[in-house]
Amino acid sequence: RKKVTIQSLSAMKSNKTPITMITAYDYPTALACSSNPLVDMTLVGDSLAQTCLGYSSTTQLTLSEMIHHARAVARGTSHPFLVADMPFGTYHCSLSETTRNAIKLVQDGFVEGVKMEGGSELVDTVRKLTSIGIPVMAHVGLLPQRHVAMSGYKVQGRSMEGAKRLVDDAVALQEAGAFSIVLEAIPKELARYMTQILRIPTIGIGGGPWTDGQVLVWDDIMGTWSGHKAKFVRRFGDLKAERDAAVQRYAEAVKSRTFPNPDSESYGIEEAEWEKFL
Ligand code: KIV
Ligand code: NA
Repeated sequence: RKKVTIQSLSAMKSNKTPITMITAYDYPTALACSSNPLVDMTLVGDSLAQTCLGYSSTTQLTLSEMIHHARAVARGTSHPFLVADMPFGTYHCSLSETTRNAIKLVQDGFVEGVKMEGGSELVDTVRKLTSIGIPVMAHVGLLPQRHVAMSGYKVQGRSMEGAKRLVDDAVALQEAGAFSIVLEAIPKELARYMTQILRIPTIGIGGGPWTDGQVLVWDDIMGTWSGHKAKFVRRFGDLKAERDAAVQRYAEAVKSRTFPNPDSESYGIEEAEWEKFL
């Protein structure tokens, strides 16, 4: 498949072709995304804090940890458009520090675009990065990097004022130059409205069926995550059961000395050579 570009993503919105985005965290998960022509975008989500590194919150992930994973994902990525999350704290201090961090993520992490969580407070940041040629994906609604300030992982935009603020934020981010926007955990009616009024593609996660695209976390799709399952998650595989069964079969085979097989799974030596050795 030909490389996905900002232009082709925009065309998919116009054509009403749904956009498929999946998170990837390392070389094998990146290869799995790239091996399927129906996958349009790969996201090195900062959800890797929990899914890969065992942190309790994405706020604990550092820029160098993100870059380490992004490089591996980039090595396995072919046609999908590759975006990485700016970790918490790397785009909030000053415009110059934010710019340096975004450049570092592109230059050392080999990603094509960066994603950041927030509303109109990010307008100057988005404008600056866009102006120097770093594509920015916006992210509004439930903002996992602000779960403490938001008193938990909750649906956003259910009140009239909340919905109005989300619309204003999304429009402001689009006008600042964002090429696409993630809508997380908002009512489906609001996500549909935002998809209609915005020119840029909307990618939903917990935003209902009418956004321009969908994104899910790798481990949620595969069924390898045993923690809390959000309402919007559908498990498309049951790799945890398969994985645990394989560990069990291997361990049993070792304990019972039925692995490895002395002939088909082991090396040998000519008898004459072995005699000499002895
Ligand atoms: O970090 C992440 O995985 C994300 C999404 C799923 C949108 O930001
Ligand atoms: Na994220």
